[in-house]
Amino acid sequence: MSSTEVNPAVSTERQAVEEGAYLSGFGNQHATEALPGVLPVGRNSPQRAPLGLYSEQISGTAFTAPRDSNRRTWTYRIRPSARHPRFQRVDSGNVLASPIQSEYPEPNRLRWDAFPFPADAQSFVESLFTIGGTGDVRTQDGVAIHMYCATRSMEREYFANNDGELLIVPESGRLRIATELGILGLAQGEVAVIPRGIRFKVELPDGRARGYILENYGSMFTLPELGPIGANGLANHRDFLYPVAAFEDLDQPVQVLQKYLGSLWVADYDHSPLDVVGWHGNYAPYKYDLNKFMVIGSISFDHPDPSIYTVLTSPSERPGTANADFVVFAPRWLVGEDTFRPPWFHRNIMSEFMGLLWGVYDAKAEGFLPGGASLHTSFTSHGPDRETYETASTVELKPQKVTDTMAFMFETRLPIVPSAQAMAAANLQSGYDDVWNGIERQLS
Ligand SMILES: [Fe+2]
Repeated sequence: MSSTEVNPAVSTERQAVEEGAYLSGFGNQHATEALPGVLPVGRNSPQRAPLGLYSEQISGTAFTAPRDSNRRTWTYRIRPSARHPRFQRVDSGNVLASPIQSEYPEPNRLRWDAFPFPADAQSFVESLFTIGGTGDVRTQDGVAIHMYCATRSMEREYFANNDGELLIVPESGRLRIATELGILGLAQGEVAVIPRGIRFKVELPDGRARGYILENYGSMFTLPELGPIGANGLANHRDFLYPVAAFEDLDQPVQVLQKYLGSLWVADYDHSPLDVVGWHGNYAPYKYDLNKFMVIGSISFDHPDPSIYTVLTSPSERPGTANADFVVFAPRWLVGEDTFRPPWFHRNIMSEFMGLLWGVYDAKAEGFLPGGASLHTSFTSHGPDRETYETASTVELKPQKVTDTMAFMFETRLPIVPSAQAMAAANLQSGYDDVWNGIERQLS
């Protein structure tokens, strides 16, 4: 079909998606058709695929990766994605790649007020602002951390990030993410992962949207091991939702942007790259509702290390030591007896970037705001502020529910280097160290 109109089948699919038609199950081999009979039966690449479509495999891992980590998807599309002109380098704006250049990386505790929306109209891609990162995009190791503060939808423009998968954590404003493999609708509390190299565009049903992004250069996110917890708990497989196939049959000029080793490149296409009519496989975008996270904690004394709150992990080659973890501090009961219940004072070889989606984080009485952030790099001393310590160390302990809050942490084994632009940002707090001022010496 080659019309300038959007195929009605697409609209039907989109409607179905918005009503909640998703494929359930983390890492499953999913199969989905936007039109009936699109998927070939019994083979992946027949001499001629149904409806005359082109077969194309997208490999997210090496062909020879072990079965339990091998990710690939077969797509059946209107044109092979190879049909495009040369990409040209364009201004990358405020998006950077690791290693972040800094002669003297900052060892101090850092905290930012909410990141501001731009005064002008900026798309999701145009608004990307890199706060920091670590590792090396060229060796597929480490991460970069970005904010988006978007004020316009992407129209006839599409994006692919070849440098890493994108964990998108919205703070405000819903997102409608149309990808090659279907459409993800994100409401408050939901997060999405867009795999490396998958084309997509971001639309803003509320006109603007702000949130956090962990760009994972390392091994793809997976669910953490559960060990003695057993077969269930934390983020459950069935709550991860993948889109059903939906395509744009659009023969009009569009722009396709790709980020490659930190630089943005653009090409003018004469058609939408979201032209996959059916697909099957396990390399696909997905979303997860943080409200479904099964929080586990102590029912006796002390509280476990915050790794108990891990939603997704990107393992490194070093056992038990993540390239990146995504950790969430969701509503939960605190019942520990003779226990200092908020996060304790500590130092940690791993670097901790935190953000807040709503409410108040239980280690900070004030100053840590939705849309803001804190960065405690490797071995930085941190923990509850003075006011939180005084309250939590003297309060009468009763069962208490932490409600109306959702904080999260991006944690990595490598020291995070903040960008020069993040250090120069007007919303960087100058007095963050002061939250620990006034804590009295103790020896009683
Ligand atoms: Fe910490």
